[in-house]
Amino acid sequence: MRAVGYSLPTAISDVADNSIAAHATTVNVLFDGSAEDPYVAILDNGWGMGPESARSAMQLAGTNANEQRDAADLGRFGLGLKTASLSQCRRVTLITKRGGVTTALSWDLDVVEESSGWSLLVHEEGELAQVPHANDLLAQEHGTLVVWTKLDRLLGEEHDKGRYLDSQMELVRAHLSLVFHRFLTGDASRRVSIQLNYRELRALDPFLSKSKGTQVHRSETVNVGDERVEVQAYTLPYINRMSKREREDATTHGSLRDSQGFYIYRAGRLVVWGTWFRLTPKNEMGRLTRVRVDIPNSLDHLWSLDIKKSAAVPPTVVRNRLRELATKFVEPSNRIHTFRGRKAVDTTGIVRTWSVVEDRDSTRYEINRGHPALQQLFDALPSGGTGLLEEALLVIESTFPVQDVFNRMSNDVPVNQAAETPVEQLLDALVQSWTLTGKSGDPAKFVDMMMGSEPFNILVEYRGQALDRITQSSTEMDNG
Ligand SMILES: Nc1ncnc2c1ncn2[C@@H]1O[C@H](COP(=O)(O)OP(=O)(O)OP(=O)(O)O)[C@@H](O)[C@H]1O
Ligand SMILES: [Mg+2]
Repeated sequence: MRAVGYSLPTAISDVADNSIAAHATTVNVLFDGSAEDPYVAILDNGWGMGPESARSAMQLAGTNANEQRDAADLGRFGLGLKTASLSQCRRVTLITKRGGVTTALSWDLDVVEESSGWSLLVHEEGELAQVPHANDLLAQEHGTLVVWTKLDRLLGEEHDKGRYLDSQMELVRAHLSLVFHRFLTGDASRRVSIQLNYRELRALDPFLSKSKGTQVHRSETVNVGDERVEVQAYTLPYINRMSKREREDATTHGSLRDSQGFYIYRAGRLVVWGTWFRLTPKNEMGRLTRVRVDIPNSLDHLWSLDIKKSAAVPPTVVRNRLRELATKFVEPSNRIHTFRGRKAVDTTGIVRTWSVVEDRDSTRYEINRGHPALQQLFDALPSGGTGLLEEALLVIESTFPVQDVFNRMSNDVPVNQAAETPVEQLLDALVQSWTLTGKSGDPAKFVDMMMGSEPFNILVEYRGQALDRITQSSTEMDNG
């Protein structure tokens, strides 16, 4: 039973599931690894349990797994509390209060072993003073406290237990922020505040749905018998438009690329994420695609949910539809990557610095000789110089660090583009170009021509300023 395969984050989530199912509005994960008796405790202000329910809660499979559950119930097997707790510790104490009655029970594996039987410990209220945070629960009207002590699996022979537990709790923080994000924001059926040693968790929204650049696609409903599965696809903003925090939030699986796929929610709680269930491969193009799938707990029998609620395989009916959707949804992100440059050429007519030359089965990048800045340079050079310039261009083209850019971008390192070139520098370059042309002709026409090409096109809002500078430089020449 202890070897079901829980990690600390999944074990704590399973206990927190019970708190949320009991309509708690606050769940506090309390811990102290440096205490004489290190502990982890989960305190909630939910309904609590009467003495009978508390006993059956401590029983293995005390609830029938085939029973229909309340739509907001995050449980299924009647095992979570026991298996999750005992995967980490040798002693789990449940203290629960409801209708003014407090019940306290423990499973202690040492007692079970010594007595060679399932002897449940029943505590008097007077004994509770030694249990960490029992007083906090007693001060409440109702609620439940689960305390883990004898943390053999969790702390083992760890030398600095306090520091080790603190570091493990950082993983817990990240995990809870993600799997319960819709409860933390209140986007689920209701809002729940989750705390770690009284520090409020923030919601980690893997769709960046509050970000302006995120594309929210039309939602779909898949009917399964009388039940409905809701599907909602998102395309994240282009990576250069994401803040560092947003990039981290959107990376739930090591890299943005690995984090693409379905995000499966059961009764509002994230269960499985970042996988296409092999319905479509994860590729570079789908890097920004995330598809949220909401399933009600009434479909548990179809999803082959596991005890830890950390694995689920979609039923065939849903699979077929998801396959179609997966391929369809990967497309928008596809377009952003491949056609970003060319689309702009088609619609805006801006003269690009680089031309993408597509051969039969490869692509190369060439510097556009027709770019006005280059034309001016060619025109200004004496005839012997043009050969040298052409040679320089060939050197640049043939060493364009394609591989390096690719590597960096696949590791989610933003690679800056022209949009980040400082305005001041571009204005200077514009004046220099004007000087190169011998400052003849109409300055306004010159400015407009230049602004029709990269990277000067981003100066559009500075047209007045650019014109001033150029006129000024002409006056300077006249005076000189
Ligand atoms: N914090 C809590 N507040 C109120 N009731 C609780 C709490 N924790 C457990 N219970 C009760 O104890 C029962 C058993 O909990 P347990 O987590 O072992 O199984 P489950 O939630 O029914 O199913 P699962 O194995 O899927 O978690 C729950 O169904 C619930 O009725
Ligand atoms: Mg449970």
